Amino acid sequence: MNEKLPHDKSLDISLSLMREGYLYIGNRVDRYQSELFAARLMGQKVICMSGKDAAKMFYDSERFQRSGAIPKRIQKSLLGEDGVQTMDGEAHIHRKLLFMSLMTPKHEKQLAKLTMEHWQSSISKWESVKKVVLFDEAKNILCRIACDWAGVPLEESEVEVRANDFSAMVDAFGAVGPRHWAGRRARTRTEEWIKGVIDDVRQGKLKVMEGSALYEITFHKKLEGGQLNSQIAAVELINVLRPIVAIATFITFTALALYEHPTHKEKLQSGDKKELEMFVQEVRRFYPFGPFIGAKVRKGFIWNDFHFEKGMLVFLDMYGTNHDPRNWENPNDFRPDRFKERKSNLFDFIPQGAGDPAQGHRCPGEGITVEVMKVSLDFLVNKIKFDVPDQDISYSLVKMPTLPESGFVMSNIRRQ
Ligand code: HEM
Repeated sequence: MNEKLPHDKSLDISLSLMREGYLYIGNRVDRYQSELFAARLMGQKVICMSGKDAAKMFYDSERFQRSGAIPKRIQKSLLGEDGVQTMDGEAHIHRKLLFMSLMTPKHEKQLAKLTMEHWQSSISKWESVKKVVLFDEAKNILCRIACDWAGVPLEESEVEVRANDFSAMVDAFGAVGPRHWAGRRARTRTEEWIKGVIDDVRQGKLKVMEGSALYEITFHKKLEGGQLNSQIAAVELINVLRPIVAIATFITFTALALYEHPTHKEKLQSGDKKELEMFVQEVRRFYPFGPFIGAKVRKGFIWNDFHFEKGMLVFLDMYGTNHDPRNWENPNDFRPDRFKERKSNLFDFIPQGAGDPAQGHRCPGEGITVEVMKVSLDFLVNKIKFDVPDQDISYSLVKMPTLPESGFVMSNIRRQ
């Protein structure tokens, strides 16, 4: 039955993955004219797939599991070990509820408000310097905001070091060599720091508000009873802090999109919330961040005449699904108005995973991401004026994760 499935014939796809990055799966889906194909990675058979039907199947937790699917090197840098991403079944749903309870519309509003306040209070500093790198400013601001909002004490003198560590963990996910090792060291330092904070709360040395992420994770009760040990509690709190800092990547791409598509500025200047929303959604669709996600077949099944054998590793192409011409007209055009009439679908627009976040592994932080991006866009368009000096704004589709080379330099910044 599986003979008909196209195969990437190379003995190991590691090198092709490194050479083609975000485009690896999509290139072969086009070449083979098939939404799934087989390959080999480190001696293991892998099925790579793309598109909304594949996404729907991938998020069926009866068919797939996450336990055993995430390589240790990713757990030791980006994600941490034994956190929510590696869980399945009832225990996962129970842990996920904790995250969902911290990411409600009320929390989105709190974070958006803090973001605008911090952007606004940066203006006078920026007015007195020649230029700033937007990515660096955004990651530091988001680190302050994330810690403040979560209840984690952070001295001003620590901000840059901690923000760099959160970013290094993210930067490690597609890397080998020095970038990977920098991510591992950053994780070790950050886990030590956050474990200390959690221990202080448990010993009553640090008072923290009920309802804050620090409080709720510190005192969370596992499905089988008892609190998380401080190591796992630290991993989960970092699962809240690190991705808030990572929104800096999308904010940098938002500025790039404004620069590359200045005709949209006029509509955004009207302050119309719908225009802001459409623009940031298109940024999340168009620009690369998460490339693909992996899971393991839980029990064998047949899909589209193909036998998925128990234990097989399967990759779902997020970047390719967001550029799938079957669902997106001219997918390589940047067109925010494509979101005007669009009916929401849980499986075709998947920059942060697919399906129902409360029932599966989809990112619980999408609402926060969108709201923080919206106020940041509003700030860039309506609160400041700036020049964009000569710089390398190109970004690689091979390096994962990627970013405009210059980090987006702004000069001659003044208040509007
Ligand atoms: C999961 C992307 C922001 C918290 C995920 C997943 C992706 C993702 C691809 C995995 C989905 C899967 O495994 O099926 C992103 C991107 C973000 C972002 C690109 C933009 C910066 C956030 C924010 C938070 C957050 C702001 C929290 C404040 C989480 C958590 C999970 C997750 C806790 C694990 C969910 C689970 O395994 O059940 N995210 N995310 N993320 N994200 Fe995000």
